[in-house]
Amino acid sequence: MTSTTRPHLFITFQMPSQFIHSLERVFDLDYQDIPARLSHEQILSRIRAHTPDAILFSGGTKIDKEIISAAGDKLKMLATFSVGYNHIDIKECEKRGIPIGYTPGVLTDTTADLAITLLLATSRRITEAMRTVRNGEWGTSSNIMWMCGKPLINSTIGIVGLGRIGLAIARRLQPFSIQRILYSGTREKHFDSDSDKKLFKFVQFEELLHESDFVIIACALNEETTNMFNKKAFEQMKNDAILINISRGGIVDQDALYDALKNGQIRAAGLDVTVPEPLPTDHPLLTLENCTIFPHIGSADEYARHQMAQICVDNLLNFFSGKPMVHQLKI
Ligand code: NDP
Ligand code: DGY
Repeated sequence: MTSTTRPHLFITFQMPSQFIHSLERVFDLDYQDIPARLSHEQILSRIRAHTPDAILFSGGTKIDKEIISAAGDKLKMLATFSVGYNHIDIKECEKRGIPIGYTPGVLTDTTADLAITLLLATSRRITEAMRTVRNGEWGTSSNIMWMCGKPLINSTIGIVGLGRIGLAIARRLQPFSIQRILYSGTREKHFDSDSDKKLFKFVQFEELLHESDFVIIACALNEETTNMFNKKAFEQMKNDAILINISRGGIVDQDALYDALKNGQIRAAGLDVTVPEPLPTDHPLLTLENCTIFPHIGSADEYARHQMAQICVDNLLNFFSGKPMVHQLKI
């Protein structure tokens, strides 16, 4: 390919040099001086200045109609460094015939691991307990119930969205001697083994809320799931229930969650995802002992992130050499 015919790729985040080198062989890259967070305006101005043929971005970057329109007819493909795609205006892509590459599967295990970490950290009050060590509160109570948490044994687990990650979370919870797993979603799943048929039960969202000791959100964010966890939902949960969200912050109405945690409507919550991200340090949720918040690190292990980057690179290289992408979103 001569330099005049090389496609132009805009990358909105930083990544290890080997991936940049692979892309440089084919693309003219715009990826220098990328700040920790590119604002919408900064993205628009870079797109207007360089008119990319493709954009590589992460789940934190909103690719809306304005950005897609600014890129214009030259834009041929979008590549997201994520399995979630709620940050992309899918309808606009469909209208313009712009295919989207994404990264399902390779982050399933690590995100499920993180969900278990968050569930245990929340149910065993880990951040609260660690703070007592630092501030001298350790040893100030003679009560045998000091710093006690909620047990998993014999519990009913509710999983909203038994997709790849939801199922991987369920598998990791089985050795904790849980009693049963309720799940909700758009359709019932098929299980082969008798033990799975006994363990898993497809229920309506309301039943899941009523019955579960631990409620885990693992579904996609879309029109139906936005603010699915609102005041009404919290009122249907057990007062002793623990909510875990590793999916997207927009599924939970955070004001209603704050009230539910503050008023003892539910016992505790563990969030890997919030609105906005990053969560402002003065956000009311951060004042609560019974709310554990992680900075969206579900897929943050070195192996998974390398695999995700490799899929992004392969999606881009394949598409621009006329081959099928490794993972193209079906829209
Ligand atoms: P999948 O596509 O395998 O699963 C998505 C699930 O969402 C499906 O089980 C689907 O249910 C469910 N769902 C969709 N619509 C609804 C609805 N209206 N009500 C209830 N459930 C619904 O995706 P993954 O498991 O790979 O990923 C799930 C999500 O996790 C991603 O979309 C992303 O937002 C988030 N994520 C977060 C990470 C983090 O770092 N915290 C890392 C990776 C992913 P059904 O099967 O019944 O249709
Ligand atoms: C995803 O892939 O959707 C995650 O949220 C980003 O790691």
